[in-house]
Amino acid sequence: MKFYSNIYQPNKKNLIKASKLIKSGKVIAIPTETVYGLAGNAYRNDSVKKIYSLKKRPKNNPLIVHFSSVKTMNQEVVINEQLIKLAKKFSPGPLTYILPLKKESKISKLVLNKKHQIACRIPNNKTFLAVLKQSGVPIAAPSANLSNKLSTTRSADVEKEFGKKLSYILDSKKTSIGLESTVLLLGASLKILRPGAITKEMIFKVLRKKIHEVKNQGDIISPGQFKKHYSPGIPVYLNQKKPKPNGALLVFGKQKIKKDIFFLSKRSSLKEAASNLYVLLRKIKELGYKSISITNIPNTGIGKAINDRIRRASS
Ligand code: TXA
Ligand code: MG
Repeated sequence: MKFYSNIYQPNKKNLIKASKLIKSGKVIAIPTETVYGLAGNAYRNDSVKKIYSLKKRPKNNPLIVHFSSVKTMNQEVVINEQLIKLAKKFSPGPLTYILPLKKESKISKLVLNKKHQIACRIPNNKTFLAVLKQSGVPIAAPSANLSNKLSTTRSADVEKEFGKKLSYILDSKKTSIGLESTVLLLGASLKILRPGAITKEMIFKVLRKKIHEVKNQGDIISPGQFKKHYSPGIPVYLNQKKPKPNGALLVFGKQKIKKDIFFLSKRSSLKEAASNLYVLLRKIKELGYKSISITNIPNTGIGKAINDRIRRASS
């Protein structure tokens, strides 16, 4: 029996409370349009350290910093023409930019990669934007899950993941996109370090420049590229037609088999599949199945990001 909950509705009073908590150095969970974020004041080393320790995240894996606008981003980050063009089209939204940090910036160096660059994004979520504006500080927020595990898309999953160690979670029924943002390295050469809802084709239309897709760099600046990531905790098999013994089948499209079946999207919508992916992977594990087989998922649009995550989940 559960006697209390750490989940709070995002009403005016609680948004003020959450903003105060952030400003004063506490770590809380806030929804974005992609997945839940484990959020802290990006100016404070102690906040950033708390995030790393709560997540059990290796120190060499840098954190995304969230801003309320290009204007506030510009106070800390060396922005360029590419950023301005892309932000006009995609921000607020699920696109993260990697750029140099300004020398005079007071953002904690603990969030940076080893080239001293910062990953930054403007989330398209009312609750997150309200906390950014009210706290008046940039917010460091990796996905709200233990390191190498599945990201969370619902407040109840965040609560299960961290238990009493996390005392404040702002509620959201379900994040809308359900997969983490696209991570894009800007500069002389453009590189997608992690695919997401904003695709290579969409970015190309704006910049008209070659965009590389990085699979597994030798010199890893974005450990999200590590193969072992996004693990549901039981084996995952790709391109399957039926479940293994004691396993479940996660289906994209229609399916004749009736038993141990879970649908990503019956109407074959990649967008719907993306938003259901983590919820279903978690559910199947919780129901006690011993493995997850997944049917083929088209590798176009956000399907690329889905395939990227389930490939990592399966390794
Ligand atoms: O949708 C998202 O991006 C969510 C929400 C909360 O914003 N955040 C998220 O953060 O997915 P995280 O930390 O779980 O994943 C960020 C990815 C990691 O693969 C990390 O290695 C990479 O971005 N990254 C962060 N900062 C970087 C930097 N300065 N240079 C290169 N890669 C970086
Ligand atoms: Mg993550």
